[in-house]
Amino acid sequence: MQEAAAAAMPLVEMVGLEKRFGGVRALNGATLTIYEGETLALVGDNGAGKSTLVKALSGVQPPDGGEIRLKGQPVTIPSTRDAGALGIEVVYQDLALANSLDVPGNVFLGDELTRTRWGWFSVPDDRRMLQETEATLERLRIRIPDPRRPVGTLSGGQRQAVAIGRAIRKPDITLLVLDEPTAALGVEEVKKVLGLIGTLKSQGQSMLVISHDLEHVFQISDRIAVMRSGRVQGVVTTKDVTKTDVVRLIVGDIGTGVAA
Ligand SMILES: Nc1ncnc2c1ncn2[C@@H]1O[C@H](COP(=O)(O)OP(=O)(O)OP(=O)(O)O)[C@@H](O)[C@H]1O
Ligand SMILES: [Mg+2]
Repeated sequence: MQEAAAAAMPLVEMVGLEKRFGGVRALNGATLTIYEGETLALVGDNGAGKSTLVKALSGVQPPDGGEIRLKGQPVTIPSTRDAGALGIEVVYQDLALANSLDVPGNVFLGDELTRTRWGWFSVPDDRRMLQETEATLERLRIRIPDPRRPVGTLSGGQRQAVAIGRAIRKPDITLLVLDEPTAALGVEEVKKVLGLIGTLKSQGQSMLVISHDLEHVFQISDRIAVMRSGRVQGVVTTKDVTKTDVVRLIVGDIGTGVAA
């Protein structure tokens, strides 16, 4: 971690984030730095605060206290639109796809490309949306044989690719956040999605990936942040630790030398 941290720029810094729900302190001084170009895994038991941390970053539920900095500048993220404007894109576990629409329809959902017909009225530019969708899928090295099919008929892995495609379509994505990208997928599909994450990583995309699956976490991440009781209890460099070390951090049996 030391060498990586020294070489890379802090991209997103979350400092002392607080979030209360009645008596529950979902975030209790959570502090985490994501470096440019890294794949940072976020792990922790149910209720540890992972989703709440991501929602603070994505503008879904702004924190009650603490500070978020983007490339060193303090930012406030009061809405998902503000997160989008800052280049923070989140793919949620339920994917939120429109099942009756085709692949380009989902990739460009709410953000359609249009062209002008007869010089004055504007119609959807289906050809360009299809072309750009195909270019995006190519970048992800994912093949969907017929992108005109409703996404409700696609496989789980293909649907995950469509949701990621929608998030990374824009040219200026600062941080891609994936919430349990391999949950509820078959073995072959998991391989494809892990491969897709590897492809993005090789292209320099900075990513924060929430996962319960330590096997996958070890395959894809540069570092692993462990949350417990609303705090980031430790951040470790993946290649320097074992799964046992990480499990210890998750359950709170912290050995020496691995806690941040
Ligand atoms: N909207 C809410 N209202 C009340 N309590 C909430 C709300 N959202 C989260 N919490 C509580 O905050 C704590 C952290 O929840 P969070 O969803 O962030 O955990 P998590 O680490 O994502 O867990 P999981 O792995 O189960 O998804 C939990 O105790 C949860 O019950
Ligand atoms: Mg969660």
